[in-house]
Amino acid sequence: MALRIDGKKISMEMKDELKEKVAAMKEDGVEITLAVIQVGKDPASTVYVGNKKKACEYIGIRSLAYELPEETTESELLELVESLNDRDDVNGILVQLPLPEHINENKILNTISAKKDVDGFHPQSVGALSIGQKGFVSCTPAGIIELLKRSNIEIEGKECVVVGRSNIVGKPMALLLLRENGTVTVCHSRTKDLKEITKRADILVVALGKPKFITKEYVKEGAVVIDVGIHRNENNKLCGDVDYDDVEPVCSAITPVPGGVGPMTITMLMNNCVESVEIQK
Ligand code: GUN
Repeated sequence: MALRIDGKKISMEMKDELKEKVAAMKEDGVEITLAVIQVGKDPASTVYVGNKKKACEYIGIRSLAYELPEETTESELLELVESLNDRDDVNGILVQLPLPEHINENKILNTISAKKDVDGFHPQSVGALSIGQKGFVSCTPAGIIELLKRSNIEIEGKECVVVGRSNIVGKPMALLLLRENGTVTVCHSRTKDLKEITKRADILVVALGKPKFITKEYVKEGAVVIDVGIHRNENNKLCGDVDYDDVEPVCSAITPVPGGVGPMTITMLMNNCVESVEIQK
C-alpha cells in the first residue's frame, strides 16, 4: 500500500514549531505582523482570508485586516500598499487574489516591497529563487518540498516531472526541485505525449486544474504522486487532478485531496512571515 502523505498532520506539526519560534521571538521583543488586504467580497477569498487570520492567531502573529469595497480604485490600493511598505511595524503584506477586473494585478503585486512579499509573487522573489539567492518562495510549492522532506522522500538525483507551468505553482515548483538536485521536466497543455513523460517520473507533481485527469496509465510503478488540484465533483465531494483510487495501488506515496497539499499553503505563509524578520535585517 502506498504511503498516504498526511498534509494535515505535517502542517499541524509545522504550525506548532512556528508557534514556539514566535513565542521565543516575542521574548526577545520581536513581534511579527502580517497585513492582509481583500478587495471585494469573493466568497472563496473570504474563506481563505479568514483561514489566514486564524492561522496567525494560532501561531501568535499579529494580523491587520483590510477589507476594502469592490469599488476601491487601483490608485487607492496602491496607496495602501505603499503606506504598508513604509511601516516598520508591518513585516508581511498579502493582497488576496483575484482582484476586481478594474485593478491591474501585476501592478499591485510589483508594488509590494520584495522585503515584505510573503506570498513570493514579486518578480524579485521569483528571480532570487531562480538564481539561488535569498528571498520569499511561493507557499504551495514550498509546502510540497516540506511534505517530501518530512516524509523522508529523497529528491536528489530523482526524475521529477511537474505538470503545469503557472507562475504560482508549476514554475516555482520546478525551480525548487532543481534546487534540491532533482532532474526536472515541466509539462503543460501543449506537451505532446504527456503520458510518456509522466511515466518517467520518480516524483510527479500535478497542477493542471483538471479533475481526476491523472490515472494509473500516467504513473510509473513506485512513483511519488503529489496532487495540487482541488475541485468539487458532481456529488459536491472534493477531488484532485489525480484519480486517487486508480493511482494509489501503483505508487509508493501519494497526497490525498483534501488533506494533502492544501493545508501546507497557509502554514508556509506563516513560515514566510517568520522568515521575513530575517530577510528584513
Ligand atoms: N488566491 C488564491 N490563492 C492565493 C494565494 O496563495 N495568495 C494570494 N495572495 N491570493 C490567492
